[in-house]
Amino acid sequence: RIVYLNGDFLPFDEARVPIMDRGFLFADGIYEVSAILDGRLVDNEAHLARLDRSLGEIDIANPHTLGEWVALQTELVARNGVAEGLVYMQVTRGVFERDFAYPPAGTRPTVMMFTQEKTVAANPLAAKGARVITVPDLRWKRRDIKSVALLAQVLAKQQAAAAGVAEAWMVEDDAVTEGSSSTAFIVTAGGTLVTRPLSTALLPGITRQAVLRLAAEAGLALEERLFSVAEALAAQEAFYTSASAFVMPVVELDGKTIGTGAPGPHTRRLRELYLELAR
Ligand code: PDD
Repeated sequence: RIVYLNGDFLPFDEARVPIMDRGFLFADGIYEVSAILDGRLVDNEAHLARLDRSLGEIDIANPHTLGEWVALQTELVARNGVAEGLVYMQVTRGVFERDFAYPPAGTRPTVMMFTQEKTVAANPLAAKGARVITVPDLRWKRRDIKSVALLAQVLAKQQAAAAGVAEAWMVEDDAVTEGSSSTAFIVTAGGTLVTRPLSTALLPGITRQAVLRLAAEAGLALEERLFSVAEALAAQEAFYTSASAFVMPVVELDGKTIGTGAPGPHTRRLRELYLELAR
């Protein structure tokens, strides 16, 4: 397995980062995840645009142009021969003696990428539907930044794992904010697609954006607003989206069945349409 680190393609075991890296000390860095399908990157320019935006929000100069990023990703995917899976990209503020304030200008950011082989399209969970639990949202107030500081999401996902379910939906003031690593949607009994609007309180999901466009094309009415846990339980269908899950049906929330308890027709249609778009 070959990974990328600061200009070099290296065997996995030879890629090392110093202990004074600010990603390690402070989680002072940004990441992105793009899916790979049939050897090609899915909606990758949107992920790279969000990477650029996240870096800008925390004053890290993007170390690469869009074209350079794509060239590095493409080479990494080819070197690892990945047909289906993920490419992970991370940029931290670099290595310097520990101090909360930024290191001197000119400190080189640490740039790292790796690939993972994974079944993203023919995921058996998508046929069955995912079970989800709700957990309190313990995160900070700039969730629009794709920061590597993910402790609240780690705790949320572990609660899901301990409960034997696939995802945790985080809840704040009785409204569903997001999944621990996904965007949350419902289809109401009246047939309206609902997901919360973009703000600093959630990550602007790239898959979310694609699904909203597809929903409009498919003639599904759309409301961008908050929804409560009770509303999700009363919904006809529910699903979550991410680069790694695509469109994932939710059939159970906190042990209670949603809709018929099987992936609903709107969700299945949106997943199909998304897969067509991704290919
Ligand atoms: N997570 N919300 C949160 C909190 C996320 O972590 C993610 C993605 C999303 C979905 O965004 P997108 O559709 O752009 O992948 C929403 C990635 C996959 C991860 O952390 O692995």
